[in-house]
Amino acid sequence: MTRRILTFVVVLSSWFGSIAGPNDSLNSNELSEDLYDTDLLPPSFHEGRRKALRSLLPENSVAIFIANSIKNRSNDVDFEFHQEPNFYYLTGYNEPHGILFIFKNNQYLGNGHYNELVFVQPRDSSTELWAGKRLGVEGVKGKLELKNAYTNDQFADYKLDLSKLDQVFIIPDDQEMEDNSRDRGDRYSLKKHLKAKMDTTGLNINTILLKEMMSGLREVKEKEEIVLLRKAIGITCAAQQQLMEEIKVGQTEYHAEAIVEYVFKSRGAEYPGFPSIIGAGENSCILHYTANRKKLLNDDLIVVDIGAEYHGYSADVTRTFPVNGKFTKEQMIIYNIVLEAQEAGIAACIPGSRFWAANQAATGVIIKRLLQLKLIKERKDYRNYFMHGTSHYLGLDVHDVGLFGNLSEGNVLTVEPGIYIPEGSPCDPKWWNIGVRIEDDVLITKTGYEVLSDCVPKSISEIEKLMADKE
Ligand code: GLY
Ligand code: MN
Repeated sequence: MTRRILTFVVVLSSWFGSIAGPNDSLNSNELSEDLYDTDLLPPSFHEGRRKALRSLLPENSVAIFIANSIKNRSNDVDFEFHQEPNFYYLTGYNEPHGILFIFKNNQYLGNGHYNELVFVQPRDSSTELWAGKRLGVEGVKGKLELKNAYTNDQFADYKLDLSKLDQVFIIPDDQEMEDNSRDRGDRYSLKKHLKAKMDTTGLNINTILLKEMMSGLREVKEKEEIVLLRKAIGITCAAQQQLMEEIKVGQTEYHAEAIVEYVFKSRGAEYPGFPSIIGAGENSCILHYTANRKKLLNDDLIVVDIGAEYHGYSADVTRTFPVNGKFTKEQMIIYNIVLEAQEAGIAACIPGSRFWAANQAATGVIIKRLLQLKLIKERKDYRNYFMHGTSHYLGLDVHDVGLFGNLSEGNVLTVEPGIYIPEGSPCDPKWWNIGVRIEDDVLITKTGYEVLSDCVPKSISEIEKLMADKE
């Protein structure tokens, strides 16, 4: 699924006048790095991931990764930059227009023997004045500990003889690329020059296996990643809880979104990991509803499917609750079916079982209960009301990469069944406009699982109690 983050960077000259001068009350020690985030993934993490990839590469081969570019929103405004997740995972570099080579074996690369090579954006005071500091080559060597670094405008002329390698691994992409004709190190140029360097007759280029290798690595989270996922999930649960406490009939979906995203930002999440899905009443039945413009009515159920992104890692937690704090009889019946299905799904998340075991368990419950309620006549008709799978991996992408084989320690996945009964469905109208989804984030442990998002109410009694307490 392609997601576009609708936040953007503003580059307007009128902002220049409002930039404050140096703050005299800060001394030079206070102007040090610990004014910024101190819990980013350390260089040792990224080095370990490069080493892990290298161990999967065959002899005499190289894996090549290209950083994302900045995408233009319109005229002087760009979309918020989002790094290509493999590039971030392997380097920690969070700027556009870079290219990374990970060689299986040491190579003689210009000025010594290395098994890595990276080209990054150069420092540039005039661009940095507008768009913020860059790491540059020295920063990449010093802070990210990537010792063999050059500027991206040196790539075109860099003598890189790939022809002596047995295999080149690359993940193809179909990103639209803008060519900045004044920048010979932009993504467009990097790809163009890479192609020229790879156009050596007979070069064995593999465009399949690297994606698989990266999926296999990224589906097993390292301890440092689990720390960041816990943080993202904790922030997301706090947002769910605050919304349950504050929401009122007569407000709007966008007001609810504002409460959620206030909690995200104020607790340090950089962005939502995907556009917040906040759908009330009829919109509770739209799976990826993101307009969030409707007024909240008495008796509306609201589906809140949200995830804070913290240092690249995204949570994904869904709760459904009545705007007025009290479930109707029909809402209660559907809610409890989804909850029963979700609990069955979570219980199936044990190491060694298939990735889709949760889906199978949850679907079984939903079919049984929909038949009992006479909402469906045949088993296969459950798809009318439950039309998605229960699970995806979670990590640097909200729908993270993985191999979808058997579950193993370190996997993090969602369990999110739902039932959606839009108006006009072939059933008693008393069920119409009830949409329920319940989603938790589950870490597979050595012997079982841990629900990372159990910090926010889920049962009807817990939700009604929390929402009643607010007055
Ligand atoms: N959070 C939305 C989804 O998983 O599709
Ligand atoms: Mn999800």
